Order: sequence, then C-alpha cells, then structure tokens
Amino acid sequence: MKKQWWHGKTAYQIYPKSFYDSNGDGIGDIPGIISKLDELQELGIEILWLSPVYCSPMADQGYDISDYYNIDPRFGTLEDMDRLIAEGKKRGISIVMDLVVNHCSDEHEWFKKACEDPYGPYGQFFHILPWHEGEKLPNNWRSYFGGSVWDKLPGHDDLVYLHLFHKKQPDLNWENPALREEIYKMINWWLDRGLAGFRIDAIINIKKTTPLTIDYPADRADGLCSPGRMLQDAVGVVDLLNEMADRTFRKHQAFTIAELFNWRKEDLASYIGDEGCFSSIFDFAETVINASPNGWYDQKPVEPEQYKQTVFDVQKSVGDVGYMANIIENHDESRGVSRYIPEGERSTEAKKMLGGLSFMLRGLPFLYQGQELGMENCAFPSIEAIDDVSSRDEYQRCLKVGLNEEEALKVVSHYSRDNGRTPFQWNDEKNGGFTTGTPWLMVNPQYKEINAASQIGKEGSIYEFYKSMIALRRDDRYEDTIVYGVTEPVLEDQKDIMAYFRRGEKQDILVIGNFRDEAAEVEIPELKGKTCQVLLNNGGTCMAVDGKVKLEALQGVVFEVK
Ligand code: GLC
Ligand code: CA
Repeated sequence: MKKQWWHGKTAYQIYPKSFYDSNGDGIGDIPGIISKLDELQELGIEILWLSPVYCSPMADQGYDISDYYNIDPRFGTLEDMDRLIAEGKKRGISIVMDLVVNHCSDEHEWFKKACEDPYGPYGQFFHILPWHEGEKLPNNWRSYFGGSVWDKLPGHDDLVYLHLFHKKQPDLNWENPALREEIYKMINWWLDRGLAGFRIDAIINIKKTTPLTIDYPADRADGLCSPGRMLQDAVGVVDLLNEMADRTFRKHQAFTIAELFNWRKEDLASYIGDEGCFSSIFDFAETVINASPNGWYDQKPVEPEQYKQTVFDVQKSVGDVGYMANIIENHDESRGVSRYIPEGERSTEAKKMLGGLSFMLRGLPFLYQGQELGMENCAFPSIEAIDDVSSRDEYQRCLKVGLNEEEALKVVSHYSRDNGRTPFQWNDEKNGGFTTGTPWLMVNPQYKEINAASQIGKEGSIYEFYKSMIALRRDDRYEDTIVYGVTEPVLEDQKDIMAYFRRGEKQDILVIGNFRDEAAEVEIPELKGKTCQVLLNNGGTCMAVDGKVKLEALQGVVFEVK
C-alpha cells in the first residue's frame, strides 16, 4: 500500500444541524462550526466531514438535495462555506463535504422538469416506467425506509419513478451519460473551490440490476425484498466509479471516503487499493451485527465477543490492501457506547476502553461529534420526539407485529438514528449550550452530566483521553507503528478480553481491554523478558509482568512492548 497524506490524521464527522447554533433559530449552522474550529484543532482533528448542508427540503435531513450548488439558508451561505474551507486550511483542517448522488430531491429542478416532460431529456435523469392502476408494480423491491420503491410520477397516472430511499429522494439514472456529466461538473466545481474531498453517500446503489423489472423472493410478509438483494447481482459499479474518479477526484488528489456496505473481499482492491476509486471506506461490519431482515424489533443486543470478532475479521480481510476508516458510530447509528458496552457497564472507564480499542486499530480513526464526550443514547419520551423517517417506519413495524406503544418506543429508542442526532452537549446550561432558541430535536437530558465544558482540560475525562490518543497517533516515536503496523489479534479465545498487537518496525504496541465486570489476568507468553511501558490507560492500576497482564474490570490499556 502506498502511503498517503491523510493516513496519519484523525477525522471527525459533524452533523451540522446538531453541532452549534450561532443565531438562535434552533438549527446548527456553518458559522457555528467555524466558531468551534479552534476547539477541534485543539483536540487534534485534521479532517472534518460535514453531513449535507446543500439546499434541501429536509425529508431525509439534507440527504435529499434540491440544489447541489448552494447552501441551505438554514445552514448559512456559500460565502460561509468558503470561509469554513479557508479557516479550516489556516488550522490544518481539511474540509470534506457529503456527496449524495444516488438520488436527489423531488424538489430538484431536474425532477421537476422530468415531471413536466417525462419523455424529454430530464425524464432520462431518473428511472421512470409505465404503470397503470391495478397493475403489479415494475418490481417488488422495498425502499430502505419502508414501502415500495415505486411511486406515481407527480402529474402522471400512467408512470412511476424509482426511489430506493424516501419517496422525496428519486434515484438518479447513472446509465445516462448526460446525468453523469452533470454530476462530474458539480464535483469539480466544489473541488475547485478548495474542498479537500467528499464522503460519498450510499454509492453502491447507483448500479441496479437490469432490467429493473426483475422481482426477488420476498424477505418479509409484505411480499417485498430489500434492495440489498438486488445489489448482489448488479454488475459494473466499479466501472462507473472509476469513470467518476478519473473525471473528478484523481485530478484533484481529493480525499474520498465511501459509504459502502457489503463489499466483497475480492473487490476491496478496486475500491481502496492503490489504484482504487476511493481513498477509503468505512468499516460498517459492527453496525450490522445481529441485524434482522424483520426489523429492529427482532434485533438482539451486541455481545462484546461479537464486536471483537467482527472487528478482527475486518482487520484481517483488509490487511495491507488499503486503509479503512474505523468508527463506533455516526449519524445513522445509535451511540457506540450504548451499543457495544453492555447495559450497566457504561462507565467513563468503559467508554474510554471502547474508544481506545477502536481508535488504535489499523486505519483512519473517524470520530463522530459527541463521541469524545461519551454521549449516550437518548431516552426519547414519545415517538413524537423522534424526527427520523426510518425510525418512524420501524415504530410502525413494531406495532404491526404486535408490540404495544411502550415496547415499540423502547425498541426504536435503542436503535434510532436520532440517538446520534441530538444536539451536541456543550455545557450544562439551557439546551446544553447548543442554542439559545428551541432546538430542532430534543437535547439528551444527560447534558447536565455529559458535556464538553465539564471535560475539556479536566484530567481523567473522556475528552482528554481522546485528546491523548490523537496526540499519541501523531507522536514521531509511535506514529509509524500506530498508523501502519499490522494488526495481530491475541487471546482470541479469552471471552470478553479484546487484545491485539500492532506490529511495527520500531516497536510492537499491545492494545488490550477487559469487557468483564471483574478483574482479569491473562498470559501472553511472548511478553516474557520484554519491557511493557504504559502509553495509555483508562484508569486503575495495571501490570504486565513476566508475560502476565492483570487488568481491572473494564480496564483498557495500550502498552509499548520492546
Ligand atoms: C446514507 C446516509 C443516510 C441517508 C441515506 C440516503 O445512508 O448516511 O443518512 O438517509 O444515505 O441518502
Ligand atoms: Ca442556526
């Protein structure tokens, strides 16, 4: 694998709507982000990805774009965006935007023109097929947000259009070269403005099976099938991606990170190898542990053993082929500490341990806003307090299979994407210091205890722990091992102990965490006769003597081994 400028950095995702509101309208905005850049720099962040800030009707919180060339007034102006890029540059922070091109908004002018004249050029920008009342729809795919992927084309009783996501997110037709040209033009326009690159949304979906009229075996009683099945059969996405990369990213040496579920090992090099079409992709394997085709109500909690094995499997599969990005959460997930740490064990120490186990893996650590504070899932008081489209669909699903409202709310509260979207908790003042107005989504009541002001500069805080991990990653003495060292799991058969070496030229680094709520002693024979120096510790006393490592309950430690 060739070394790249971004490998040694630490990245951070901002969900703009919930980060910091500068003008009291209850919605986070770009000036708000700019005002916090110093703090992000202080933490050690060098790559900043913003979830979409383009013009949008917000049916899916900005992932439904009505104008790719402008900023939604709720978030600010184009000048604000330019200023953010420039201010980022001054602080060594590269700004990355979201690139949402599998679909646009039904309020985008392309779709409006397609509705006006479905047989004209813009009709070809979408997937529109004939259909008559009473007939079977063109196929039986189920939208990711529930219901059929087909809806009537507004103004036309005899036509339907395809949307894999919300009905306000019509899929763009990537088979049409004219559409592709428009997309490339737009990408280059942004890169020319000084943007460092893009996080690329839902991109695997751009290639569908053809013809579109093929049904798949139903995976639920509704007779429909998730598009995930169709994606297994779709061929040729890499050709489309390479064309896009050639025409845009490669010319600009842009940093690109794709949202790509279900990659196959044999395809990994074409995605993130040295000649791959992206710089990196996220490791999402942990986010789908125990996922059920039936929905959230049928999902079991994640066991630490499952987490550990999944992480290790991915590290082994990726090897030296490319450089993945490691996360514990994002805006589509519930909070990592609430998901991967068993209930009753979510202490400050446990949160640091989980953070450390993920952060020290080979790959780009990609933090999500609030992770550095140990923000947890939110206790939503009612379904009305939840905004997210997919959560509302899952709630209905729970009711349909017979759960009562209270049970349904409990399920949805555990998995809702809104857990990651509640406003950032800046301090213990009103609304957690996020806004002086009324926040667009409720603030997690935990803000009194969990907030930035109470952690920044406070010894022993989760924030300071993250800060020291980032500093360690940039420390000349360890950087090469932490950034490029091979990951080698050890003690794999020790239940609830997660441990791995990072093998480097200068040293080995041992990362070890104890998910048990009792002390543990483990033996690693190769440590005999070597010195183990503690580089990071989440608290408590730990010992590595004569090949034996003693850990307290929920203790996580990083050792340098020489
Ligand atoms: C991605 C985004 C998610 C969005 C979807 C449709 O999965 O991360 O938030 O709903 O794509 O754009
Ligand atoms: Ca605002």
